[in-house]
Amino acid sequence: MTRIGIFGAGSVGCYLGGRLAAAGVPVTLVGRERLLRITAEHGLTTTDYQGHHAHVAPDEFRFSTRAADLADADVVLVTVKSAATADAGRALAEVLPAGTPVVSFQNGIHNAATLQALLPDQPVFAGMVPFNVLDRGQGGFHQGSAGALELARDTRLMPLFAELAAAGLAPVCHADMPAVLWGKLLLNLNNPVNALSGLPLRDELSQRSFRRCLALAQREALAVMSAAGIRPARVTAVPPSWLPRVMDVPDALFRRLASRMLAIDPLARSSMWEDLEAGRRTEIDWINGEVVAQAARLGMPAPVNARLVALIRDAEAGGRRDWSGPALLAELTATGS
Ligand SMILES: NC(=O)c1ccc[n+]([C@@H]2O[C@H](COP(=O)([O-])OP(=O)(O)OC[C@H]3O[C@@H](n4cnc5c(N)ncnc54)[C@H](OP(=O)(O)O)[C@@H]3O)[C@@H](O)[C@H]2O)c1
Repeated sequence: MTRIGIFGAGSVGCYLGGRLAAAGVPVTLVGRERLLRITAEHGLTTTDYQGHHAHVAPDEFRFSTRAADLADADVVLVTVKSAATADAGRALAEVLPAGTPVVSFQNGIHNAATLQALLPDQPVFAGMVPFNVLDRGQGGFHQGSAGALELARDTRLMPLFAELAAAGLAPVCHADMPAVLWGKLLLNLNNPVNALSGLPLRDELSQRSFRRCLALAQREALAVMSAAGIRPARVTAVPPSWLPRVMDVPDALFRRLASRMLAIDPLARSSMWEDLEAGRRTEIDWINGEVVAQAARLGMPAPVNARLVALIRDAEAGGRRDWSGPALLAELTATGS
């Protein structure tokens, strides 16, 4: 059986680790002391919006605070936030044998490349987590929305593919993961809108004015991608180019069109909201900031995404996080005109 190591035991890491361990896969999680204590007391419980429920006792997986405990893993999944990727790469470089495949299951475009530069002796691949994971406390991790994992198509990942499938998380394999990551980024442009609204995702996305903020950011990102020759993959029911139009429709029509998107746990928030709440650095530079950087390389303006970056910077420093939809839309429209 394939031994799976997970570096960065938080929401995504514990959810994937809990599901794999529940399927009998040997799992080692590397994370912080706080979660080590919680999981040593409660084990790991995974649930999802469709009724999945599994529990693994503390002796059915290994949890460590030391990267060295991943030395015997057959494959390592990296599930830290983007700001911690370089540290993760340096820690893994010291302990992984040459040839151990590493998969970045992170948002953003360049995390796999950052890891690859630090891990020249290990093949690094991109993966993508399409769903939201909520840390419910006491070792409970809940998948709050739909979607299948996506994974780079490579024979070296076949064992991981098999174990994920056995755990009920069969990934979709993709030959062009950058396109998938850009497709996911279009959805993640909602993260700052959600974080600035202070609302759960479902409440925020139910309001047209917030969706219009997202549509502005998506239109701008699509123009930048088009100019850069990037063709984002379709990661939702509608093609990427339709997303801004779908966001723009009135609330009643949106509820009908996007029932899958709104099938989110009523309490789920974006991880950017959680980062602000915990006083941590957000992933804004790896999401909207990526659009701004790409636009700058092309000499194009990207004022809406640049403004969202600035508002999140301000929020990181203790600034406003209770924007109404109309106020945020007015702010972004003024910026973009
Ligand atoms: N959460 C979601 O719903 C979701 C869904 C799809 C994709 N994603 C993406 O998946 C990635 C992970 O997100 P997440 O929400 O799972 O993050 P998270 O909950 O913050 O989990 C990462 C964990 O790794 C720990 N960590 C960081 N550096 C470490 C180190 N050197 N040694 C040991 N532990 C370390 C962090 O601790 P500290 O906080 O103390 O640093 C944190 O507990 C992100 O790129 C995110 O955008 C998240």
